[in-house]
Amino acid sequence: AESGCLSIIVLGASGDLAKKKTFPALFHLHRQRFIESHDVHIFGYARTKMSDDDLRDRLREYLTPRKGGEETHDEDVSKFLPLIKYISGPYDADEGFQSLDEAISAYEMSKDDKGGSSRRLFYFALPPSVYPPVCKMIKRFCMNKSEGGWTRVVIEKPFGKDLESSETLSTQIGDLFNESQIYRIDHYLGKELVQNLLVLRFANRLFMPLWNHDNISTVQIVFKEDFGTEGRGGYFDEYGIIRDILQNHLLQVLCLVAMERPVSLKPEHIRDEKLKVLQSVIPIKDEEVVLGQYEGYTEDPTVPKDSNTPTFATVVIRIHNERWEGVPFILKAGKSMKSRKAEIRVQFKDVAGDIFKPKRKGRNEFVIRLQPSEAIYMKLTVKEPGLEMKTTQSELDLSYRQRYQDVIIPEAYERLILDTIRGDQQHFVRRDELKAAWEIFTPLLHKIDNNEIQSLPYKSGSRGPDQADTLAEKVGYVQTHGYVWIPPTLS
Ligand code: BG6
Repeated sequence: AESGCLSIIVLGASGDLAKKKTFPALFHLHRQRFIESHDVHIFGYARTKMSDDDLRDRLREYLTPRKGGEETHDEDVSKFLPLIKYISGPYDADEGFQSLDEAISAYEMSKDDKGGSSRRLFYFALPPSVYPPVCKMIKRFCMNKSEGGWTRVVIEKPFGKDLESSETLSTQIGDLFNESQIYRIDHYLGKELVQNLLVLRFANRLFMPLWNHDNISTVQIVFKEDFGTEGRGGYFDEYGIIRDILQNHLLQVLCLVAMERPVSLKPEHIRDEKLKVLQSVIPIKDEEVVLGQYEGYTEDPTVPKDSNTPTFATVVIRIHNERWEGVPFILKAGKSMKSRKAEIRVQFKDVAGDIFKPKRKGRNEFVIRLQPSEAIYMKLTVKEPGLEMKTTQSELDLSYRQRYQDVIIPEAYERLILDTIRGDQQHFVRRDELKAAWEIFTPLLHKIDNNEIQSLPYKSGSRGPDQADTLAEKVGYVQTHGYVWIPPTLS
């Protein structure tokens, strides 16, 4: 492992992302001693003028135990907060970044191995409009100056609004930093069950021969939230659900479901295979898209009354390669739906020459539930217990809460920040992947922006527009009515 002092600089320290995600993740990493008081220092940077203690006080309420029955103690919080210093300054002027560099250097020089390597991690909890000026400032004033040290930048979507604007941003950042210094976060790649996909697919003989168009009829990747765009209507209306969820989170998951086996677990090998999937996607057909907008969305004062921005979308993605020819990948995401859930459903084809027909109903379905209640289960047809030869649907169930009772599943950001410190880019999006992802959605997004495709109204708390279910059925998804999987509870 590397040693030398580590400075983590959270830019936009007083904003929402920093408070809700970045600092709590750092806190949990510190509690578990993945980062340690003797060699880490955290710097908050933002425009607001305040003292170190003001920032610490603001953060305190977010440093709470993680879900799953963890206990944290005041003691942990009081060990963590003193590691944070605050520096205020603008995002585009020399002075601020000069004083930031002085503060970092002062900390580095206070360590025993003054000449040792300095590691500087810049976390951008900022709106992307300031990424270019901030990158320039860092490059000019704040780079690590020691041998063997490094400087890395961590950035998060939105990376532009379409292919062109994204490429412009990539070029601006790419002119200043190497790809190996840039960590593009997609927090879905930090979720436990998303990370499990690689293992499930490539460490189990069971799935390998089945994972193709001969056996699989459809793949659904679904994201639902049971709340609307509360408080961020202004941001959301500019982007819509496709840019917010499908183009990044769901497409990344699709890559991991669909990719070929990478040559090794090296980050570049994995990212090479993901890229090939994206490059094999054929243009989306208008008739394989259903958009929706929940009723009441435009009542938000920051949203224009005539907005056509979708808060729901079902889009069928088709991968033109040997493994997946003919298999629709149905991506579906919605705000203000009946429930909150994210899952992958791999549905298998009917049994050929089935002797249990016509009575048998339901297909094999392999379900990976990302959240809530993480689980992996396989829907099977079995004999209904009893004297008669009847069939019923049941499941092989690996529910994490039950199987891993004492395990607390780390938050996505916790894991990903640790990766940035360790220099592992496996779970980060490479520039060419980002470009390929925009290539897939840009033509559709432009049609939506030009009002050539309308968002259909749907009721808050519903399944979204009926047309979405019709489309899924039309492309081959068979819903088993009357079967509901219930997450097991602990007795
Ligand atoms: C973000 C989106 O990237 O992901 C939000 O911008 C969304 O709109 C969030 O609510 C969902 O993340 P999670 O981890 O709660 O599923």
